[in-house]
Formats: sequence, structure tokens, C-alpha cells
Amino acid sequence: MDAAHFRHVVGHLASGVTVITTETGDRRHGMTASSVTSLSADPPMMLACINNAVPTAAAVADSGRYAVNVLGDGQGELARQFATASDDKFRGVAVHPGKLGLPLLTDALAHLECEVVEQVTGGTHTIFLGRVVTATATAGDGQPLTYFRGGFGRFAFAKDDEVYGRARELVLSRAYPADQALPLEDLATRLGVDQAAAFYALTRLSSDGLVRRDADRGYVVAPLDVRTSDETFDARLAVELGVLSLSLDRVTDDEVTELRRRFDAMAALLVGERFVDFHGYLDANYAMHEYLVSLAGNPLLTSTFGRLGIKNVMTRSFGVTPETSQKFVEAQRHLVDGVAHRDAESARRGAIEYCELAKERVREILVATGGTL
Ligand SMILES: Cc1cc2nc3c(=O)[nH]c(=O)nc-3n(C[C@H](O)[C@H](O)[C@H](O)COP(=O)(O)O)c2cc1C
Repeated sequence: MDAAHFRHVVGHLASGVTVITTETGDRRHGMTASSVTSLSADPPMMLACINNAVPTAAAVADSGRYAVNVLGDGQGELARQFATASDDKFRGVAVHPGKLGLPLLTDALAHLECEVVEQVTGGTHTIFLGRVVTATATAGDGQPLTYFRGGFGRFAFAKDDEVYGRARELVLSRAYPADQALPLEDLATRLGVDQAAAFYALTRLSSDGLVRRDADRGYVVAPLDVRTSDETFDARLAVELGVLSLSLDRVTDDEVTELRRRFDAMAALLVGERFVDFHGYLDANYAMHEYLVSLAGNPLLTSTFGRLGIKNVMTRSFGVTPETSQKFVEAQRHLVDGVAHRDAESARRGAIEYCELAKERVREILVATGGTL
């Protein structure tokens, strides 16, 4: 199997992030590691998998000890620092010695000091099995740093997600009108939750583009108007046309198969002239277009596409009514067929047709609902 493919797929397994530290002579070593796991409780054991090419592997083997420093959600920069080879990885980092004398990162969420009891080779890595000698966790409610699909993120409790989902529904159902303030206390009361949970929901709604911060009024519901909709769909079209011109002649048959699979999954959710499951359709539509953009193999383009907020515009326009049209599926079929036949002109026409249809449909919906959603 191709290593890049494996890395992409296994990147879907979310993990916590740690820094493994050790000391040899008077030299401190440290590296960011996510392949760290608790192994057994009695005796308490951890394992850490370290690439043999990394100097920390030899240092742990030499010293026979390592510390696991569990990072918190504000420590993404620290994780980058310890993931970049350097003579002084500890610059600017608060450190104190543990019971085994190992350097512990003072601001980490938790520390475990281990003595190596066994080493196992696995591919390019050594698995260091360690008996845990000391273990401390900070008091308080620090949140962990997470790593998922090549990026750092934060852990969210299912309860926070649920509150966010309900807050989102309130905004989409226009319980708070467009361009009106959305006070934190009021949102918390309506949802029957504490203000911390309501605040978390507001920050997520803000990164979704559904609400925005206003200097005088606090959070306000971002209005959706024709201009926002046109700009968003045009921006998506510009990205997709760019991707088609950059990559159509090197698209593989496997990629076409995957694009078609995503198209079929989406088309199945628009039956006759209605959405059978609007949110399912939205996710499938996004997954198909994101995949199309990813064919350029350019992460900057893929993340630009993600930042367009296309799902929000679609949710707030198409999502207000189950009625729609097979024309949307047909336009996207032309796009996919164009890619499949490596026919740049017909793929381009499909993309443009789909964009124009979407803009027109939002206009119709805005007219029917008074101009602004
Ligand atoms: C989030 C993240 C997790 C990582 N996990 C591991 C890991 O578990 N094992 C490993 O050998 N390298 C891992 N790395 C890569 C090392 O941190 C990187 O190779 C580092 O430069 C090694 O330090 P050194 O070469 O200066 O000693 C990870 C990197 C990142 C960003």
C-alpha cells in the first residue's frame, strides 16, 4: 500500500498529543508524539512508539527512561516546536524535574515518568514499554489538545455538541432574526444550559459564519442576502474551475470511481423534486465537492474551499424548504461526467451550470422569504 494513502486514511483516527522527554548526561531531549498509549493498570504501564531515525529514540534507549507530557488544547505551538528538529527544543518552555530527574513540561495537563522494561521493533519504529513510576495530573478542567487528519484541534464533549446543535437550529429557524443581537444570557436561558455551554455554542456558530461579533452589540445573527450567496457560490466555482484546469489531465481512474461514488450517494438523497434528508444531502454534496477540489493535491486549495462556508449558505437557503429540483443533480452529473471523460469543456460547463442554478435558487428563496434570511 502507498504510504501517503495509508497516512491519509489513518489520519482519521483522532488522538491526544504528548511530548516525550528524556535526559542523557546533561542533554535534554523531547519530541511530539501521538503514538502513546496506556497499556496495563497492574502493573501500571505505558507504551510509546518512536521512529528510530529520530534522536529521541536513541536517547530513550540510552537513558532507559522517558516522561510522557500530555498537552492541553492551547499548546499546539508547543507541539509544533517539539516536532521540529532543533538543537534547543526547550527554548522558552517552563520545565521542572520529575522524581526520576526527567524534564517535565510544567504547563502540560498530566505527566507520567516511566522506566523502560522492554523494547520491541515495529517497522521503522521502536515500541518502548515503560513501567510507570510517577503519574500526576493538573487539578482543574484543562482540555486536551487533539490531532486529527493532520491538524490540531480540541476535544468536545458530546453534551457541548448537542447544545451547539440546538443553538444552530434556533438560528436557522430564525428564532433570532437576521442582524439582531443574540445575547449570551438569553441563549443560555432558552437552551436551559449554563453560560459556558452557550458560549461554546456561540463560538462554534461564529466559526460556521452563522453569527458574527459586533463591536457594540456582541454576537449578532449574520444575515444571508443575495450578495453573500452569490459571492460564496462564485468563490466555489472559481476554486473548482481552477482545480479542473490544474488537474483534469492527471486524474486517475480510481479517483473518478470515488468521485462518482460520492455523486451517487448525494443523488440518492434528492428524490423527485424533494430532499429526502436535507442534512444528509448537504454532507454528501460537500463530500463530493471537497473530493473534487482535493484532486488538485493542494492542501491550500482544499482548506480555502473549507473556509467558504458553503454549507451555511446552503443550509440557510435550500434548507428552509424540502422542495428542490433534479436540475441540481443533473448539472452535477455533467460535471462528474466531464471529469470521467477528461473533457475539460463539459466539466467546466457542468460546474458553471450548477453554480448559476444554485444562485438562482437562493434568489427565489430570498424573494419568497422577504429578502434576507
Ligand atoms: C502530532 C504529532 C504526532 C507525532 N507523533 C509521533 C510519534 O508518535 N512517534 C514518532 O516517532 N514521531 C512522531 N511525530 C514526529 C516527531 O515529533 C518529529 O519527527 C520530531 O522532529 C522528532 O524530533 P527530533 O528529530 O528533533 O528528535 C509526531 C509529530 C506530530 C506533529
